Amino acid sequence: LISDPGAFIRAHIRTVPDWPEAGVMFRDITPLLANPKVFRVLIDQFVHRYFSPRPDVVAGLDARGFIIGSVLAYELGVSFVPIRKKGKLPFTTVEETYELEYGSATVEIHTDAVKPGDRVVLIDDLIATGGTMMAGRRLLERLGAQVIEGAAIVDLPELGGSQRLRDSGLPLFTLVDFE
Ligand code: PRP
Ligand code: ADE
Repeated sequence: LISDPGAFIRAHIRTVPDWPEAGVMFRDITPLLANPKVFRVLIDQFVHRYFSPRPDVVAGLDARGFIIGSVLAYELGVSFVPIRKKGKLPFTTVEETYELEYGSATVEIHTDAVKPGDRVVLIDDLIATGGTMMAGRRLLERLGAQVIEGAAIVDLPELGGSQRLRDSGLPLFTLVDFE
């Protein structure tokens, strides 16, 4: 048994300085995914959190939110819905544009991805400025869904995103903080 899952998970995240541009400390989750024991501990944290009451849908944010979100949905036995970068989804979509820590982006969701009233957990690997999660939440709410919580492995609290999301009324569940 792991006594401190947060510390265990944190120890398997790699920091790459100045990537993708100078001044960014990139928090790389690939070592965590590459280690099956750590990956299981990671997913178990989210399964335990959302096992009861179960959401109707897990929505994952492109691209690293797909990796953990799809496994979580599978484990919970609920729908997985991808929120994708613009231009990737083939059916009718709605879109939201937002600012990132580096650059800006537009995300889309299929209009039939959720039903009005669906209870959704919105998941990504990391919250920086919170722009991605806020955009994803807006898409889901425009379709009438209820985002019950935002979830991520990593929060970067100094960027203020998680605070802004909480201030806007979105509960958050994160496992590891980095400065
Ligand atoms: C990263 C990360 C989050 C987002 C967080 O994705 O995986 O989705 O940035 O930043 P924010 O809180 O400031 O919005 P990125 O845009 O690098 O895309 P990727 O997942 O395709 O690598
Ligand atoms: N997305 C936005 N900022 C990031 C960071 N510092 N590390 C990893 N992904 C990110």
